[in-house]
Amino acid sequence: MEKILNVPNHIAIIMDGNGRWAKNQNKPRVFGHKAGANTLRKIMEYCNKIGVTYLTVYAFSTENWKRSQEEVDALMFLFKSYIKSERENLLKNKIRFMVSGREEGVNLSLMEAIKELEEATSKDYEMTLNIAFNYGGRAEITDAVNKILKDGRTSITEEEFSKYLYNDIPDPDFVIRTSGEFRISNFLLWQIAYSEIYITDKYWPDFDEIEMEKAILSYSKRERRFGGRLDVK
Ligand code: FPP
Repeated sequence: MEKILNVPNHIAIIMDGNGRWAKNQNKPRVFGHKAGANTLRKIMEYCNKIGVTYLTVYAFSTENWKRSQEEVDALMFLFKSYIKSERENLLKNKIRFMVSGREEGVNLSLMEAIKELEEATSKDYEMTLNIAFNYGGRAEITDAVNKILKDGRTSITEEEFSKYLYNDIPDPDFVIRTSGEFRISNFLLWQIAYSEIYITDKYWPDFDEIEMEKAILSYSKRERRFGGRLDVK
C-alpha cells in the first residue's frame, strides 16, 4: 500500500448496503445491520489510529421511520445495545460520543442513554464519533431556521448559521458512501458544500480497514479548490 499523505480531519460515511448484504446470504435485514455495527466499530478504531479527528456516520434518517415496524424496532434496539456495549471501548480509546438529529420521536430511555454517554465521554477525548440518528439534512436546516426566528434575528451570516445546526463541529472533508449508490440521501446538506466524495461498490458490512485506506489514499491525491482556482492567486 502507498503511504497515506493526507488524512482528512472529518470523515462522514453513508453506511449503505446492510440489507442487500444480508439478502445475498438469505438472512433477514437485521442480520445485515448487526454486521454493520461491527464494521462501524472496526472503522472507528482505524480512524482513531490514523489521526482522524471527527467521524460522522449516518445510522438512521428521518425517512427511515417508513421502514417496517420490525426493522425500525431492531435498529432502535441495536443502537441502544451499541451504546451499552461500546461504553468501555469509547472511554478506553478516548473517543467522544455525539449524536446529531431530532430528539422528537426517539424513545425516552434511548434519549437518556444517549445523553448519559455523551456526557461521560465529553471530558477527555482525541476523536469524536458523531452518529447521525433520526437525522435529515432538510430537517436540520429547518430546525436551525426555526431557532433563528425564535431568537428574533433579522439577518445572519453563514458562520452564524452553522452554529444553529445540531452540533458545532467542522464540515466534513471527505464523504464516503458504500454500496455503489450515487446519492446524498439528505445527509449533511449544509456541511458538505465543499466535501470530496468517494463511492465504493462494497456493501457496508464488507467495508474494512483496507477499503478505508484505499478511500483515504484517493482523498489524499485530490486538489481541493473550494471554488477557487489554484493557478490564480
Ligand atoms: C443502510 O443500509 C443502513 C441503515 C439504514 C442503517 C445503518 C445502521 C447500521 C450500520 C447499524 C449500526 C449502527 C449503530 C449506530 C448501532 P440499508 O438497510 O438501506 O441497506 P440496503 O440499501 O441494502 O437495503
